[in-house]
Amino acid sequence: MVEETAFYATTADGIEDVAAVDLQKLGAQVEAWKTGRVYFRAPFPFFYRANSLARSIHRIVILLKRAKAMSLDEIYETARSLELSFIRPEQAFAVRPRRLGQHPFTSQEIGRVVGQAVIDASLQAFGQRLRVNLDDPDVALNAELLDDDLLLGIDTTGDVALSKRGYRAYQHPATLNPAVASGLIDLSGWDPSCSLLDPMCGSGTILIEAALKGWNVPPGRWRTAFAFQRLAFFDGRLWEQAKEEADAQVSQRPLQLLGIDRGLKHVKGARMNAEQAGVGEAIHIRQGDCTKDPLPSVEIVITNPPYGVRVGKRRLMAKLYGDFLDNLRRWAKKATKVLFITGEYRAFAEVLAARDLPLLHERGIVLGDLPTRLFVFHVG
Ligand SMILES: C[S@@+](CC[C@H](N)C(=O)[O-])C[C@H]1O[C@@H](n2cnc3c(N)ncnc32)[C@H](O)[C@@H]1O
Repeated sequence: MVEETAFYATTADGIEDVAAVDLQKLGAQVEAWKTGRVYFRAPFPFFYRANSLARSIHRIVILLKRAKAMSLDEIYETARSLELSFIRPEQAFAVRPRRLGQHPFTSQEIGRVVGQAVIDASLQAFGQRLRVNLDDPDVALNAELLDDDLLLGIDTTGDVALSKRGYRAYQHPATLNPAVASGLIDLSGWDPSCSLLDPMCGSGTILIEAALKGWNVPPGRWRTAFAFQRLAFFDGRLWEQAKEEADAQVSQRPLQLLGIDRGLKHVKGARMNAEQAGVGEAIHIRQGDCTKDPLPSVEIVITNPPYGVRVGKRRLMAKLYGDFLDNLRRWAKKATKVLFITGEYRAFAEVLAARDLPLLHERGIVLGDLPTRLFVFHVG
């Protein structure tokens, strides 16, 4: 039996179940998930495939230690007991601390005590102090305290999360996180035979993610560097093999991916991004107003409208949402499943209730620091 390693993956709070399925499909044995983290076991080289192929994940972390900790002393003791086989004496490290919950200390203090513990451990293990380099470390050690749950692990991804795909030639002011976009596509039940519309597509993230999925294009294709490449146990042969396997799965096929945005700048930007991602010919984007213009009749609509926070004015949102829904119902010839994610969820819940549209599903998803809600329902 192959010995399994403990890992966890980070993702957006609210799509852990989708991220778990994403990891399971790549071969992980998922054990649990909570607050943006999915805990799993897999053969040690799993992180090569996962970094290249997982679509709804931010980071893949090798879990070195998991323990209960309530104080900085307990955090120090746990970190001090780390076995340092993951780093060579001449390498530099950094601690990346995070904290969720109420604690009488800051995340910087967590970083400081974990850093000190690793240096003390290195004096014993190597007879010399490990160097610290916060800007460009060879090894980034994640130290996360989630209430009293302490996680110490090696970040195999790096400071740039997997959700930063690298295909954005055009930067929209309110883009959706591509890992979340991919999660919404999975939740919708979309498959490459389904027609999909994003009627407020901005820079095209949802459509591009669907095209990448439909063509099996590895989402990590544009990255030139992963943190694992600098780790002591990096095996270039295994990494080349993982990339070759991923590239061999790419297969172009006809897709029905349609986008509309009322801003010409965004329409041009979305087309540029789709070209940059190599899926320009799979996506059709046009300028239009989804509250007034004819809409194509499709099986699935996924959209991330303005919330009034970064784009547009909040008080106008209820009107925009209502007018869009009425127009969509006018043009929907068959049952269309709609996934609508918004930070203005109270306004949208009222709009839905006023139209007597029963919900199939609803959940909270945190985008950055912003609580949003996803609504799933049928029209037509
Ligand atoms: C939050 S952004 C979408 C961002 C997109 N998901 C992305 O990742 O780039 C909302 C978009 O809705 C567009 N929009 C607002 N009202 C619209 C309308 N009536 N018809 C079409 N597009 C509209 C805006 O121009 C904006 O680009």
